[in-house]
Amino acid sequence: MSAPLHEPHKFKTVRNLSFPALDERKRYLQDARFNVFHLTPTQVSFEMSARGMGAMSQEQVAGLFVGDEAYAGARNFEALEAAVSAVFDKRHLIPAHNLLGAVQVVMAAMAPAGSIIPVNCVAISDMLELRQNQAVDVRAVTPRRFRGDLDLTALETAMDRGVALVWIEAFADGRHPVSLANLEAVKALALERGVPLVLDGSRVVENALAIQRHEEGRSGLELGEIIRMLASCADMLVVDAAQDARGQTGGLVATNSADDLSKLVHQVVLFEGLHTYGGMTGRGMQAFAIGLRETTAPGQASWIEHQARTLHTQLLDAGVPFLAGCDGAYLEADRFLPHLSEHHEDTLTAALYLSSGIRAVATGRAGRDHLVPVQIPRLAMTNHQIEYVAEAITALHRQRNAIRGLTTLNAGAWRDEMRYRWILPELDDRDYYGAPHVVSVIERVGALTRAQRRDSLEEAGYNTFLLRSADVGIDLLSDSGTAAMSTEQWAALIRAAPSATATDEYHQLVELLQDAWGYEHVIPTHQGRAAEHILSQCHVLEGQHVPGNMYFTTTRLHQEMAGAVFADVIVDEAYDPTSEFRWKGNIDLAKLDAIVQRQGADTIAYVSFEHSVDLAGGQPASMPNMKEVYAYCSERGIPVFFDGTRCMENACMIARYDPTYRGVPAREVLREMMSYGDGCTVSGKKDFLVNMGGILAFRDNIRWKEQAWDMLRLYGGNVTDGGLPAADLAAMTQGIEEMLEDGYIFSRLDATALLAERLQRAGVPVVRPAGSHAVFIDATRFLPHLDADALPAQRLAAAIYMETGARTIARGTLPSGREPESGGGPRPVELVRLAIPRRVYSNDHLAAVADGVVRLFADRHLIRGLSRVSEPSRLGLLRDRYAPVEG
Ligand code: F0G
Repeated sequence: MSAPLHEPHKFKTVRNLSFPALDERKRYLQDARFNVFHLTPTQVSFEMSARGMGAMSQEQVAGLFVGDEAYAGARNFEALEAAVSAVFDKRHLIPAHNLLGAVQVVMAAMAPAGSIIPVNCVAISDMLELRQNQAVDVRAVTPRRFRGDLDLTALETAMDRGVALVWIEAFADGRHPVSLANLEAVKALALERGVPLVLDGSRVVENALAIQRHEEGRSGLELGEIIRMLASCADMLVVDAAQDARGQTGGLVATNSADDLSKLVHQVVLFEGLHTYGGMTGRGMQAFAIGLRETTAPGQASWIEHQARTLHTQLLDAGVPFLAGCDGAYLEADRFLPHLSEHHEDTLTAALYLSSGIRAVATGRAGRDHLVPVQIPRLAMTNHQIEYVAEAITALHRQRNAIRGLTTLNAGAWRDEMRYRWILPELDDRDYYGAPHVVSVIERVGALTRAQRRDSLEEAGYNTFLLRSADVGIDLLSDSGTAAMSTEQWAALIRAAPSATATDEYHQLVELLQDAWGYEHVIPTHQGRAAEHILSQCHVLEGQHVPGNMYFTTTRLHQEMAGAVFADVIVDEAYDPTSEFRWKGNIDLAKLDAIVQRQGADTIAYVSFEHSVDLAGGQPASMPNMKEVYAYCSERGIPVFFDGTRCMENACMIARYDPTYRGVPAREVLREMMSYGDGCTVSGKKDFLVNMGGILAFRDNIRWKEQAWDMLRLYGGNVTDGGLPAADLAAMTQGIEEMLEDGYIFSRLDATALLAERLQRAGVPVVRPAGSHAVFIDATRFLPHLDADALPAQRLAAAIYMETGARTIARGTLPSGREPESGGGPRPVELVRLAIPRRVYSNDHLAAVADGVVRLFADRHLIRGLSRVSEPSRLGLLRDRYAPVEG
């Protein structure tokens, strides 16, 4: 059993986190009377709780918008019924508002007050006590792997005294799995005695995985089969929608017995809602139904297990006392803080929050046990984040002697009632570096076998651009329009009222960019090239020159279509993939000056200045360079227009690598950068974190704006939307707000650097230094035995797909931007681009791709070339088909 390398899905929507500073955390804790239960999510960074906190799939979210909120006969009910039948093989469904509701219904129907109920878990006992039932823990005492198993003798003894039912929890209390053999034996006994067996299957998948991994003779079974076998032992099954099924809330009871059904229906109508919805919304039932079916999605259960193990391993290595759970680690508060006499759990949770902003919460009855569950919300966190949590706990453990106990201010039976006083300990304040968001929604990705990948590659003519995205695992084709939106962006998107005229969303977008850039005239376009079209048409006269720092394909095409002669004036270092020069996006002022001298300033339409130059490898321009170029041009009446598609990443590079700007928030760097230009075009599909949109902007020239508006009315849409719905404008405004945050933008740079370093360390030739949005592999040096005719870049992109399932793309030859007049220069460098979509992949995804490329590099001499088999087309890379060269 090898550990999974990365998530078997990508991130579709993220939820931004807050990171309150130490002083704020102190205040919040004080206000909550040192009971972390009373902190609100905006006061907390990471919430370590599994129930109702999992990431949904995009299908589940779609389910929230599907179906009917009917009182009876809802399609959503039918969907849930069908899911229960498919997953558990149970005919009858009794819905409930959550697990407590499901338990209540079963108990009310089956267990009169005073009943004895043999159990294998603690969590249920509070509920039973309340109902004046008595739980007897009949778990086997001898240590074993399946610690949730019942002791059959103890069970028989209990049955001799008369029991209402037997209650078994799959993966009891999150820590004790049950074996199939034991459950089958219990079932036989229950049948013999005529006692109903109830199984709580809320964590049935984790339990099934434990059986598959560890129970003798079961390793050949599929997870789904094991789940059905477990369910078949139970007369009644109760399930929490908020656990394995990753719903927000909801519950159900399922049975095959018509008798039981009528007893349960009576109770559900009394306590929950009608038996047709049981206190759940239609959308809740739909998401529950889909989530149930997804529990056996390939790789999902193993990934959840792997994440729990990641946490366990780190805590174990550090000597932190805890019990391992299928959904996290259960800290033993009394052993963690042995010097305290009381309130171990609440002191521990308060101290963890104080030191790191992480919330773990002990719930239920005060003093029931000494455990603090640190659960991992299913699929919602990255391993990097889990490691951070483990480090925070470990650091706290090292400082445990500094922690004094809480003093009771107000005691109660339940933990949420507790109020305390506390002498705050002096603890190290931990900083979190990493993605400042968790996963809200996932999207499953293609997981093909090598043989299937070969087929799909052949079908695509060895051109990765022609692959179906459904056949791609990790898609690094482009960082354009591929970002995961945040929940705030979705909220803005949904809230926006559609309109055929000016909208509030338009004004908000304009105001935000006016402030962020200092440009007065902000014009939305449907994407970047639409802005380029307008700019070129309005500002180029036939035969004029447009000097630029290398070029982007569409940008240059529009300039040339408008009659411009393009001239590349980027610094020479940009053509040397081995050069470590930090500012390879700079304009070489001498080259620019040569053109101006030769042609005359009045023949220069404008200077086209791209930020974080894509074709050069995502290389930034320096602040002094932008300043100098602008001073030079302004003096001569030459406008400077930025391609600010990746303006924020350029700003972040400056904040990180230019000592003058160290510690300056990237948004301030951005504003200064933009002050050295007269306007810009932007593809909003990159830094702005949206899937569609663009901007054309001018500093203050109202005539330029009016010219642009004329074009926009013809080609784009309203001057107030450029052809975008108000919803997309709203998402863009929110995306820009998020882009401006240091936490996000720096974590993005780190992710790219990680990928580049991992490749570089293994000797893979990559363009140096690593840019911000992508890593570029030098295919010419990777496959030195192939000459240019053998299409090394296309070949390498195809090989990477075969090896890793990841899609990259052959990305031009570096010096193709070089004008013939600038001389021969070195051999053309063919590049493969690994572009990193924003907020979509974890470091584990990227590391897995890097490791695959490194494996390929070791066997690079085996890779043969490609030849073109299609007619050359104008769209070249986007349409060409190739075939491997024989031999
Ligand atoms: N400018 C730059 C620097 C770009 O990277 C792109 C698009 C555009 C302009 C055009 O903007 O696509 O919104 O019309 N780059 C994509 C890429 C296609 O994959 O790099 P658009």
